[in-house]
Amino acid sequence: MSTKKRTAILISGRGSNMQSLVEAARAADYPAEIVLVASNRPEAPGIGWAEKQGLVTAIIDHKQYPSREAFEAQLQTALDAHGVELIALAGFMRLMTPAFVERWRDRMVNIHPSLLPSFKGLRTHERALEAGVKIAGCTVHFVRAEMDDGPIIAQAAVPVLPSDSPDTLAARVLAAEHRVYPAALRLVAAGGIRSADQKVTIIQHSGETDSLFSPAI
Ligand code: GAR
Repeated sequence: MSTKKRTAILISGRGSNMQSLVEAARAADYPAEIVLVASNRPEAPGIGWAEKQGLVTAIIDHKQYPSREAFEAQLQTALDAHGVELIALAGFMRLMTPAFVERWRDRMVNIHPSLLPSFKGLRTHERALEAGVKIAGCTVHFVRAEMDDGPIIAQAAVPVLPSDSPDTLAARVLAAEHRVYPAALRLVAAGGIRSADQKVTIIQHSGETDSLFSPAI
C-alpha cells in the first residue's frame, strides 16, 4: 500500500503552482500523491490542464451555494470521497471559515506571493514596489483563519530590480513559487516539520545557508 499522503490541490485560476506540484509529485520518491484538483470557479484554466493530465477534478462553484458553510460542506464531501489527508491551496482565492480551517489545522498549506508577514492580501507586487523593498519573494505557510496568516514553512527570496514593473516582479516571484512550493509540500508530506503555535521547526534541514543580497554586494 502507498504511504504517500493523499493530497488535494485547490485552485481558482491559472493553476501554475498546481502544475508545479503535480509535476513534482510524479517522482517515485515524492511523499505526496495528488488525488484531487478542485476549483471554486468553473472557468479556471487550471482545471482544463488537470483534466488533460487525467487527474481527478471537481468543480464546486461557490456561487451555487447559499453560504460559505454550504460551499465548504460540499468541498468536504469531495475531500472525504477521495480520502484526502492534505490540502494545498494554489491560487485559491476564497477565504475559508474558521471551522473549516480548524478542521484542517496543520494539514492545509497555502502559497502567497510575498515574504509574509509583509504584504498580505492582493496587489502584493505593486505594494512591494511602492514600498521600495529591495527583496521580494513568496511564502508557504499553514493556513489559519486570518487571511495569508499562519506558521511559515518555507520562503524564497528574489531581488527587486530598479527596472521592475509589477508584472516583471510577479514573474520572478512566480518562478520562485514553482520551486519552493513542491519543496515545502515534500517536507510537510514526509513529516519533516513540527508546528507549535505560530512557529514551524524544520527537522530535516539540508543545512544549506545560501544568502541573497539585493543589490548584489
Ligand atoms: C500565485 O502567485 C499565488 O501565490 C497567488 O496567486 C497566484 C496564483 O497563480 N496566491 C495568493 O495571492 C493567495 N493569497 P497560479 O494560479 O498560476 O498558481
